[in-house]
Amino acid sequence: MTDASPTVAATPAEPVASATLRVVVINGSPNRQSKTMGLVDVILDTLRGMISIDTTYIDVYRLGPGFTGALGRDEVSPDVEAALRLAEQADLLVAATPIFRGSYPGMFKHFFDLVEQYALANKPVLLAATGGGEHHALALEHALRPLFGFFQALTVPVAIFAAAGDFDGTLLLNPRVYGRIEMSIRDVIDLLRTRATGASLGPDVPVPGR
Ligand SMILES: Cc1cc2nc3c(=O)[nH]c(=O)nc-3n(C[C@H](O)[C@H](O)[C@H](O)COP(=O)(O)O)c2cc1C
Repeated sequence: MTDASPTVAATPAEPVASATLRVVVINGSPNRQSKTMGLVDVILDTLRGMISIDTTYIDVYRLGPGFTGALGRDEVSPDVEAALRLAEQADLLVAATPIFRGSYPGMFKHFFDLVEQYALANKPVLLAATGGGEHHALALEHALRPLFGFFQALTVPVAIFAAAGDFDGTLLLNPRVYGRIEMSIRDVIDLLRTRATGASLGPDVPVPGR
């Protein structure tokens, strides 16, 4: 499994030589050319500079009818079940979304409505969002952080927000945001190193993804 080929682990982990942090990005953007994913690229590059990571992307808008039509966990399709399990088994979740109507998109919330109630307890979760302007930056604190508070997750103290003006297209330019990303990760890097499992994700199973 590589960054270039996002896949889902459906079986128990196999040990590998070096400790690797299993990072799962939950992407709330419906767009192929996404500022949110541009922000995530910088977050992952920064992480990669400090620790070995193995990244999988789950695009909630591309999980299909086996996701959108499911009212409960028992109704999801097998590939959606695999995506949910991957999120539940991650060492670090990156919860990344555009702000829609002052909060996270409904599709992003629907993914977490299907996550098992205690599966994210004590799990590091890094919060990241983009918006058209700065006005809704605090949606990270009043919408995303309480969602993961429900799960008893360990949200990273410094959440990361970037506005349209911080980008050229999907390329993040603003050095202040780069600095915030660095601070956010440095705050928890010791914890992440202890969480790195030294395990691969096992045989790869394709999943609707990035
Ligand atoms: C339906 C919709 C609602 C939006 N609502 C907000 C909003 O409330 N606040 C805000 O700052 N930006 C809002 N935006 C702008 C997006 O958050 C912004 O363009 C974001 O960077 C898009 O991310 P993406 O390129 O990753 O999809 C909205 C965009 C759409 C399409």
